[in-house]
Amino acid sequence: CGIVGFIGKEEAAPILLDGLSRLEYRGYDSAGLAIYDGKLGLQVVKAKGRLKVLSDLTQDGATVHGTVGLGHTRWATHGEPSDVNSHPQVSENGRFAVVHNGIIENYVEIKEFLQHKGVTFVSQTDTEVVAQLLEYYYDGDILNAVSKVLHRINGAYAFGIVCADCPDKLVAVRKDSPLILGHGDGFQLLASDVTAVIKYTREVSYLDDGEVAVLTQEGAQVYDAYLQPVEKERHHVDWEISAAEKGGYEHFMAKEIMEQPEAFRKTVFPRIKEGRVVLDDLCFDAGYLKNLDKLYIIACGSSYHVGMAAKYNLEKLLRKPVEVALASEFRYCDPIVTEKTLALVISQSGETIDTLAAMREAKRLGARVLSVVNVVGSTIARESDDVIYTWAGPEIAVATTKAYSTQLAVTYLIGLYFADLMGTIEKKEYDAIISELLLIPTKLESILERRQAIQYYASIYFNHPSIFFIGRNIDYAIGMEGSLKLKEISYIHSEAYAAGELKHGTISLIEPGTLVVALASYQPLFEKLMSNVVEVKSRGADVLGLATDAKGAEMAKTVDHTITVPDTHPMLLPSLDVVPLQLFAYYVALQRGCDIDKPRNLAKSVTVE
Ligand code: G6P
Repeated sequence: CGIVGFIGKEEAAPILLDGLSRLEYRGYDSAGLAIYDGKLGLQVVKAKGRLKVLSDLTQDGATVHGTVGLGHTRWATHGEPSDVNSHPQVSENGRFAVVHNGIIENYVEIKEFLQHKGVTFVSQTDTEVVAQLLEYYYDGDILNAVSKVLHRINGAYAFGIVCADCPDKLVAVRKDSPLILGHGDGFQLLASDVTAVIKYTREVSYLDDGEVAVLTQEGAQVYDAYLQPVEKERHHVDWEISAAEKGGYEHFMAKEIMEQPEAFRKTVFPRIKEGRVVLDDLCFDAGYLKNLDKLYIIACGSSYHVGMAAKYNLEKLLRKPVEVALASEFRYCDPIVTEKTLALVISQSGETIDTLAAMREAKRLGARVLSVVNVVGSTIARESDDVIYTWAGPEIAVATTKAYSTQLAVTYLIGLYFADLMGTIEKKEYDAIISELLLIPTKLESILERRQAIQYYASIYFNHPSIFFIGRNIDYAIGMEGSLKLKEISYIHSEAYAAGELKHGTISLIEPGTLVVALASYQPLFEKLMSNVVEVKSRGADVLGLATDAKGAEMAKTVDHTITVPDTHPMLLPSLDVVPLQLFAYYVALQRGCDIDKPRNLAKSVTVE
């Protein structure tokens, strides 16, 4: 969910709606506003559906008046998407309105307690419990009531709270779900992330877990969990707002795919000096690295797929075992982690709660944590022992592309940097990888220039009910991402398989006309992969092949259509291979008329477990 709040001298509604439009990637099941009107009291407008429904309902905010208020865009967890379950949630007598991101785990028990006291609930949400509990504890002092509520609830949350009794204040609370404050001249904002505030101010501060902030027109006072005032450092956000706008593209996803060469340059080039990887912010020593028992890569979704690719490369480079874990599994699997374990945590948003919780668990067990994060100042970045930022700029489309590519790029840098320190790489090989690394952006540009061919293949295959991706070694890792990209935005069923494993079960699903995307860019296993292609062809599959230029013609003899990417060092292939797969997913979804930037049921930043 996305939350935003404003207190100042101007009309709040248009500012809140604008903020919500930038947070819609966080959820888009419903949206709502609560605004304090001096004459009418707290006015709440909310509606199921996209933000557009709310904007139309309020004539872009023109029908709701007041200079203090909250907004919310929801990704439903407790309670189906509906008008009544939308936020803000309001206390029975309309005194408190609350917007919430997260889950209150003990809401049933509190709800029963309040019902017993005669409180009537109108929604199925856990959030309404907070609004009602605030009212229950309220004795004229809002901060007191907030503090009592916080002691009573369990779970993860970020709240914005407005109270009709003190409309000169907004309260913001954070535990495990992100929340930032934006500081302006005569106004203050709160929001789930900086994209919602940078149009108005570039001065922000990040709330930490357990903190409560009271915002007034003039400023913000932050308190710790014991209501002791704390000084917050202010940060200046320097990226341009245009980076979070479509810039002439039909979709953010298309824009972000096209931005990849530049994003790769920005991530990698400043970190290569005189032919060496220089990671200024890190200070690992050879002794520590040589002593490692393993590297544990922890991530979710596409970031996990980066980890899958990185495993092949890091094991080759470092000769250390690398385990890749889904964060949601890691946390509860009693993982074998010691003080000699390095946890490599990968997250675009730096806020994914599964990843954050797994990271804390790894730390608790003694691991040192190195994170690869895109969003500067995010929780994972702040809580890691070391962080490398991907510098991909804001990514808005729910399906990640440039963040994925820059994460991959950072894993190459880490591999080279560690291998160099540990002495596990020969100079010749090191130099060869570095010079190829510097050529990747140009090679990416050449792939993007040839995108029309991929659009053509998408037009042939967009109606296939089920699509398989097969590959071996690093091609398998890329197939996983290609398959995820396709299914998340086009809603076509898809599976990624290790090509050699196909015969052990999944091949029974191949029938005449099934599309198999065969990835054969990893040359040491080209022949092996082609044997698997022949196996599926002989069962009637259509095959769309992907190979490097060197093997394209050979592959074309067997498959129906071939996509080629330039040759490069095998370690770097994922960076090139993934782009045609992103484009394929994009064009298939376009043909099918899907909502590409906001696929159904998904959210970009998932801050609930
Ligand atoms: C969500 C998104 C995925 C993303 C995953 C991990 O589920 O829909 O696209 O890969 O979270 O996100 P992170 O921000 O931690 O990389």
